[in-house]
This record gives sequence, structure tokens and C-alpha cells, in this order.
Amino acid sequence: MATYYQKRLREKGIDAGVLSLTELPDSLIATDLYGKRSAEFELILRTVNQTDKFIFIIPEYNGSFPGVLKVFVDACDFPESFYEKKAALVGISSGKYGNIRGVDHFTGVCHYFNLHIMPLKLHIANIKSEFDADGNLFKEDTVKFTDEQIDKFIAF
Ligand SMILES: Cc1cc2nc3c(=O)[nH]c(=O)nc-3n(C[C@H](O)[C@H](O)[C@H](O)COP(=O)(O)O)c2cc1C
Repeated sequence: MATYYQKRLREKGIDAGVLSLTELPDSLIATDLYGKRSAEFELILRTVNQTDKFIFIIPEYNGSFPGVLKVFVDACDFPESFYEKKAALVGISSGKYGNIRGVDHFTGVCHYFNLHIMPLKLHIANIKSEFDADGNLFKEDTVKFTDEQIDKFIAF
């Protein structure tokens, strides 16, 4: 989903990077979360701190957002990473609810550190049925709503 958003943004003239939380250093909890900055995370952090707008693609894990996402934002810098910046949120799930609750939970976390969340948030359920063989969304309503969110986010 993140690379789909990246591709649509590029088609609309915007260059965006993708950070997968699977790329976070294994040591994150032992180092960056508790005050010992690691060289590996420092590199990631430099990009985060230079970025003004974020799109979070958030899978539903046990009825909320993944714990690793909280570890990630907790390990970032305050206020340099997110304060007074902007973000859009996309919830996805293999089940029926498209991570409605997790996206709401994460909205509360973002507001705590003053990251402005765009009002149009998406919830895409049954995610395994949404992509064609080339990794593109193909259902008319999902294409329409993701495009609407991307356009609004460019203007946000
Ligand atoms: C630990 C874990 C918990 C999950 N919990 C839920 C859940 O509560 N509801 C749901 O609909 N899907 C759940 N899923 C499915 C994920 O939302 C879905 O497979 C998503 O695409 C996973 O994204 P990822 O591969 O980036 O982790 C869970 C998946 C994992 C790995």
C-alpha cells in the first residue's frame, strides 16, 4: 500500500520516500528508546526530521495499531520529528474493520505531540483482495477514495 501511494504521488508530481518499520534497527528498544542514540537509527531520524508531511499506512494488529509504530514514534526526537507537522492516516486490515480503532488510537497519540492529522482518514478492510498482480489497487471505490485522500493531502 505504501508503494502504491508513492507511485500515485509520483504521478501527481510529488517525490515521496517509503520507510518500512521492518527496516528499523533490531537494537531500537535497547538503544534509542532509552536515551542511547544508535548510528543506524540516527540515519533514519535525519530523514524523518527533515520531512514535513507523512502518510502513515497502519495495519490492524490485535484491534489497534502495531506496537512497533509506537516504539518508532517514541524513539524519535521531540519536538524535531513531528511537532507542528502534518500527516494523513490509512488503516488496513485483513478483517472487516479497516483498523478504525487503531487509526483513532494513533490520531490521539499524534495529537499529543502536535502532529496535525488530516480529517479524511481511510479504512481499507479485507486488504488481501484489494491489489491486482502488478500491485495496483483496482476496485473503483478504493481507487477513488485513495486518490481523493492523496489530492487533499497534497493541498493540506
Ligand atoms: C500480529 C498481527 C495481528 C493482527 N491483528 C489483526 C486484527 O486484529 N484484525 C485484522 O483485521 N487483521 C489483523 N492482522 C492482519 C493485518 O492487519 C494484515 O495482514 C496487514 O496487511 C499486515 O500488514 P504488515 O504485513 O505490514 O504487518 C494482524 C496481523 C498480525 C501480524
